[in-house]
Amino acid sequence: MPVPDAVDAAAAETVLVNGITAWQMLHRTVKVPTGQIIVVLGANGGVGSTLVQLARHAGITVIGTASPRHHTLVRELGAIPVDYRDPDLYARIREIARDGVDAVFDHVGGAGVEQSWQLLRRGGTLVSYGTAATKDEEGNSRLPVLKLFARLAAWNSLPNGKSAHFYNFWAGKRRRQASWQQRMNEDLIQVLRLVADGSLIPQIAKRIPLTEAASALALAESRTVAGKVVIVPGT
Ligand SMILES: NC(=O)c1ccc[n+]([C@@H]2O[C@H](COP(=O)([O-])OP(=O)(O)OC[C@H]3O[C@@H](n4cnc5c(N)ncnc54)[C@H](OP(=O)(O)O)[C@@H]3O)[C@@H](O)[C@H]2O)c1
Repeated sequence: MPVPDAVDAAAAETVLVNGITAWQMLHRTVKVPTGQIIVVLGANGGVGSTLVQLARHAGITVIGTASPRHHTLVRELGAIPVDYRDPDLYARIREIARDGVDAVFDHVGGAGVEQSWQLLRRGGTLVSYGTAATKDEEGNSRLPVLKLFARLAAWNSLPNGKSAHFYNFWAGKRRRQASWQQRMNEDLIQVLRLVADGSLIPQIAKRIPLTEAASALALAESRTVAGKVVIVPGT
């Protein structure tokens, strides 16, 4: 994949999986039109910060959840920040979007996914793409995912005009490899073009040399950073 000269290696790495994920959820899974309003959970994260910028670039209003320490950044990216630890989070979102929202992008899962579903207006779409809330739960790690799939399927069967999807970056890689690869290439070209022209700014929290990889991983897991921690060659 040719990377435009204007995009350095760390920037390209930052938007590789996260950029394609955000692009595909926004433009393939949902096809959110200009003028709509969406909610992005974890708007300071790698996928979240990319999703916010891509949506703003497409003329979509974004409400982004994040801890207050990241609200300035989330605002600078163009979203309306709300605190995900606020017990009245969903009431606060409803104050901003009185008629409901057109899409919610949820990687948190767990009990809160029900609230994400309830935020949607008629015709709205829930895009679930993870279960961060259950990652430290004891027992079979597949169980929360299976429960989530069952929930999404049940919601999809309701006659209320709303729909629920699970996005999986790797879906189709084994069985339809050529079309999967082609989609990836097309979408990465779009994402890198936006990085090259300055419309999408990869959020790099820190660049840390390979020799300090352990501290890079600790920082990435610390839940304090905005964007991605990138390991770079050298000492
Ligand atoms: N399905 C797919 O194909 C696919 C593709 C790519 C990524 N993913 C998943 O998407 C998620 C995000 O990836 P990423 O690279 O953007 O990660 P990241 O950079 O670490 O960002 C995670 C974001 O989620 C927030 N968060 C984490 N746990 C939370 C919780 N329990 N409740 C509320 N917010 C929480 C974080 O907030 P704080 O900073 O305040 O902790 C941060 O904003 C990961 O779970 C990843 O596995 C799935």
